[in-house]
Amino acid sequence: MIEGAGVASLLVEGIGVLVTNGPEGGVARDAALVVEDGVVVWAGERRGAPQGVEERVEAGGRAVVPGFVDSHAHLVFAGDRAEEFAARMAGRAYSAGGIRTTVGATRAATDEELAGNVGRLAGEAGRAGTTTIECKSGYGLTVADEVRSLRVARGFTEEVTFLGAHVVPPEYAGRADEYVDLVRGEMLDACAPHAKWIDVFCERGAFDGEQTRAILEAGVARGLGLRVHAGQLGEGPGVRIAVEMGAASADHVTHLTDADVDALASGDTVATLLPGAEFSTRSPYPDARRLIDAGVTVALASDCNPGSSYTTNMPFCIALAVREMRMTPEEALWAATMGGARALRRTDVGHLTPGARADFVMLDAPSPVHLAYRPGVPLVSRVWRAGRELGRESPVSRRGREFG
Ligand code: NIG
Ligand code: FE
Repeated sequence: MIEGAGVASLLVEGIGVLVTNGPEGGVARDAALVVEDGVVVWAGERRGAPQGVEERVEAGGRAVVPGFVDSHAHLVFAGDRAEEFAARMAGRAYSAGGIRTTVGATRAATDEELAGNVGRLAGEAGRAGTTTIECKSGYGLTVADEVRSLRVARGFTEEVTFLGAHVVPPEYAGRADEYVDLVRGEMLDACAPHAKWIDVFCERGAFDGEQTRAILEAGVARGLGLRVHAGQLGEGPGVRIAVEMGAASADHVTHLTDADVDALASGDTVATLLPGAEFSTRSPYPDARRLIDAGVTVALASDCNPGSSYTTNMPFCIALAVREMRMTPEEALWAATMGGARALRRTDVGHLTPGARADFVMLDAPSPVHLAYRPGVPLVSRVWRAGRELGRESPVSRRGREFG
């Protein structure tokens, strides 16, 4: 992500609505935020704000929210699949097999091309307010191509996930178990030092329950945290396995049995919903209400990938979640910030209470409800990560009070 200049201490004042995600409601009005050395040191009503800071920013009544935590993205790939998308919009169904098209293009790309593509997407995400992003491998599917995918991802984020078990590559057609042995053996040995997480696409057409369990067990043995793609295209064993094995997150979870919902509610696996995928595959959306009402912790993420969800835009995902998944605007924003942090088992991001990394977004709107209320409008006007403003030479105070 692009880093702007930083100052040791910064006061943002005149904030119309400040979402902190802290206890006691997590919202302050006519608020201020104080940052020191990249960390939030104070947040609350403006009149109580400590003075004596080096730099002041006047928000002019705009809303400030935590930076988005996008806990699920596949950014390391080459090429795109615009034709596949167009064919799908003309009636063709989505299947896991399309991944192989991108595998071919990714293997043929240079490291520089892959890094250039990740940089472009990470920049896009940053400008749209994402300050933490997870990034998976999974379009290389050879030992060397998975290792270089992870190395490229590591250049942009520390939340790197090994997804050698994305799909069985063409050269292993009809020999899925041999490929599983490669993934949990030699490929994992080479990849584990470059990753924090391991993920498996547990789905018909990808990997079954037994294979998923075997791969995740091998990941645990190498010290990796667990994530699972589960229930994207149909019900299956992925959710149960994720909860039983203590995965940080079960992702997609569009097709769930009542037992899956109960399992998620009783365990500490976050349900990560990816509405960009349902949008781009013209599929029924997951029922977030059912999960939230059952007491499940829900995250929202982009699933950015060239096949099923080619967007990096978290505000778009929030708008979809509110309109199509029965989430309130407040729940959707929480899921896109704190929910994502929980899905990555991070306590330093996703909120703006003292001690948090100073990752925050100023909206060109008086309230965060506008993220869903004004879909498609680029409301993210300024973004700070660890107290540094992205894409700016130096922090510039905006004057005026356009919003309330
Ligand atoms: O999360 N489900 C598996 N992986 C991606 C799709 C990848 C692709 O179609 O290229 C997803 O939707
Ligand atoms: Fe995915």
